[in-house]
Amino acid sequence: MNYNIALIPGDGIGPEIVAEAKKVLDQVCQVYGHTFTYEEVLLGGASIDVHGVPLTEEAIATAKNSDAVLMGSIGGDAKTSPWYQLEPSKRPEAGLLAIRKALNLFANLRPAYLYNELKGACPLKEEVIGEGFDMIIVRELTGGLYFGERKTFDDNGVMTAVDTLSYNEKEIRRIAVKAFDIARKRKKKVTSVDKANVLDSSRLWRKVVEEVAKEYPDVTLEHMLVDNCAMQLVHNPAQFDVILTENMFGDILSDEASMVTGSIGMLSSASLNETKFGLYEPSHGSAPDIAGKGIANPLATILSAAMMLRYSLDLDQEADAVEAAVQKVLTEGYRTVDIMSEGMKQVGTTQMGDLIASYIG
Ligand code: IPM
Ligand code: MG
Repeated sequence: MNYNIALIPGDGIGPEIVAEAKKVLDQVCQVYGHTFTYEEVLLGGASIDVHGVPLTEEAIATAKNSDAVLMGSIGGDAKTSPWYQLEPSKRPEAGLLAIRKALNLFANLRPAYLYNELKGACPLKEEVIGEGFDMIIVRELTGGLYFGERKTFDDNGVMTAVDTLSYNEKEIRRIAVKAFDIARKRKKKVTSVDKANVLDSSRLWRKVVEEVAKEYPDVTLEHMLVDNCAMQLVHNPAQFDVILTENMFGDILSDEASMVTGSIGMLSSASLNETKFGLYEPSHGSAPDIAGKGIANPLATILSAAMMLRYSLDLDQEADAVEAAVQKVLTEGYRTVDIMSEGMKQVGTTQMGDLIASYIG
């Protein structure tokens, strides 16, 4: 089959890790007889450097015309990068938020899975790890606090800043439906996370999620307050199957969940709209401190490419092959520095990509 893939290398380690994911996809094409045509799209700092803005209409159009988008990471060091001298709406992160909105990518799926081989890299005690864990965070991605009206102003001589957290029932319903659909194919449990003891938006969230749950009698629903969830993730992570939550809570909890899997360098993600279209990116950031050193872990991006094969292109067998190759590399003891442990073989970014590609087909 022929597919058009929009490729967003982005900033920091982005170009290095996307190059490895592309290497793996090229191998998939060769083995399974597909043709992927890539078109590069500028986003974040890379776009600011060329166009002065973090996202252009042209970039949105290219992404829209593709079958799927594969992204690295965006952003730089806020203390030293000139990108952060710009007003907030022109900084790299604003480009990422804007492309998510422009493509209507309201559903962000972030699987957090502890590979047996990485138990040593997990910071939790052995008795907490137990048999390991396998959860997926379903994060609402185009609403809430990150998209509400915001302003900073002088209130009678007192500097004041306001951010607005708003959700309507339609936004809540569509993400809840995604979470329940996913739970149905897994362990059939949804933990909906909110702050309903304080926030109106959370009380509406709870009400709508309960309505949706009625359509899924085979799926167990439980509600959990976000502060408790942050604690439960390190206390008993195995209790979770699907965590459904709003934008900011999902942003925070997914970083926490990634760390208990050993490294944020392992966590893939898919951002989907109502159709099969999606943008795939690692859950981690652009790590400017290690950019260009050849040590970044490309596995989260490679696993994101596998999600792209599965969700947007319907190439399940090919996705299985990529995931199996990642498993094999870990079983054979190859590790990038972030997941390195005693007795293992340390490799750099490109070697890791080479190994994965060599295990496909
Ligand atoms: C993420 C990132 C982004 C977010 C930032 C860079 C805007 O932290 O994808 O989790 O908050 O969504
Ligand atoms: Mg984040």
